[in-house]
Amino acid sequence: RIALANELPGSEVIVVSNREPYIHNRDENGEMIVQRPASGLVSALEPVTRACGGTWIAHGSGTGDREAVDGNDRVMVPPSSPAYTLRRIWLTDEEQEGYYYGFANEGLWPLCHIAFVRPVFREPDWRMYQKVNERFAEAVVAEAKRPDPIVLIQDYHLALAPRMIRDRLPDATIITFWHIPWPNSETFGICPYKEEIIDGLLGSSILGFHTQFHCNNFIETVDRVIESRIDRESDSITLKGYEAFVRPYPISIEWPPAAMEGQKPVPEARKAVRKRLGLPEDVQLAVGIERFDYTKGILDRMHGVDALLTAHPELIGHFCFMQAAAPTRSKLANYKSLQEEAEALAREISERHGGPFDVIQLVARHHDPEEVFELFRAAELCIVSSLHDGMNLVAKEFVAARDDEQGVLILSAFAGASRELGEALIVNPYDAHAMGEAFYWALTMEASEQRERMRVMREQVEARNVYRWAGQMLLDAARLRKKQRIMRLI
Ligand code: G6P
Repeated sequence: RIALANELPGSEVIVVSNREPYIHNRDENGEMIVQRPASGLVSALEPVTRACGGTWIAHGSGTGDREAVDGNDRVMVPPSSPAYTLRRIWLTDEEQEGYYYGFANEGLWPLCHIAFVRPVFREPDWRMYQKVNERFAEAVVAEAKRPDPIVLIQDYHLALAPRMIRDRLPDATIITFWHIPWPNSETFGICPYKEEIIDGLLGSSILGFHTQFHCNNFIETVDRVIESRIDRESDSITLKGYEAFVRPYPISIEWPPAAMEGQKPVPEARKAVRKRLGLPEDVQLAVGIERFDYTKGILDRMHGVDALLTAHPELIGHFCFMQAAAPTRSKLANYKSLQEEAEALAREISERHGGPFDVIQLVARHHDPEEVFELFRAAELCIVSSLHDGMNLVAKEFVAARDDEQGVLILSAFAGASRELGEALIVNPYDAHAMGEAFYWALTMEASEQRERMRVMREQVEARNVYRWAGQMLLDAARLRKKQRIMRLI
């Protein structure tokens, strides 16, 4: 808000992402139900867009089709206090298959996350990816009220859109944020369309990644793949007469999170959750909460639980691990098989260790942010064991949920968040034994040590919240616009 009011007077902000920030659906009585999808991108961008106003262009994938919203392409959101326009693009099944399931999620997603799932690139998917990026670019041009909007493009679904928008709106300030890791140049070199992807991204004015490490990987990839001018001092790349700045902006969450409003005190949350799960009141609870995605290390943490109970059988009957997992991209074979494998593994471990209740409880459904925060508040510990993750906002949300300064975070060294949250117990998710030990350490940690660690992490997340993330990008954009205005006068 501050950045926009002081530095960007009269500016127009357009956010562009594949995922819609709200899903509108009707229940069996025809009543409108509005949900927030499980997406780190949405958790971060939604509060920022609420503060800036403007337009958010997204694919209406969860909402389904125009009929669900009475034929309206535009709707003001959030429903309770409208702050910005959500403009939906409706993709055909064929477009969604090729662009979203195919190129984005079977190609780029495994390519950028080193989770040992082979990326698949098919030529028809690529064509659909190009076509859908065109559709998003056209929507930006159609929505823009001025020739120089600030366009915030989000993620790997839209790598070609920056160039397409730049060609049509040369004065736009295009900030592209890549929410997932950028791998090293050898890995990215696998992509048969690497030149086009890089050319597309370099239509941006500013290109953001979570960490300097990913910025370096990107610059190195550009250097190997195309002919451009790279200025190592300012980390900028000039291609086709445009200079793009490559910068790290570690993403975060809003502070205080909206989902904290109306939360029960911790002792009540503990009771309510244990009752719901059918657990005795004194059980120690660990939680894991994410989309059912193979990059999250869900099976690996179950192996960690297995290692814990093998080393400490005395915990049986006194400890439970609850994994909440929102089904996602379920049409894809890798996602379907992960869900089946996780269900089988949870059953197998629970049966093998026995005890009065299942030691691993897997709840495969969507949880609203309020419910997620209640789970965080009820738990002794939260585990984030991503095999590779750009940032991971679940880790930051857990910390934000614990205003009682208790609870332990176990965090993968391969999540960007581990670079900021050093007071978590940092683990290698490929090492089940070490994870088992981290669980034990967390479960036996003194309240005073929990407090010390949690305090430092809370200060960190509060200070480096998502408004700072967006504010920093917008300030950099403002500086750039000022410089460009002066250059035009000279
Ligand atoms: C990650 C991606 C986001 C995506 C989210 C949910 O966080 O970086 O772009 O929105 O996963 O995935 P989905 O495919 O359901 O949008």
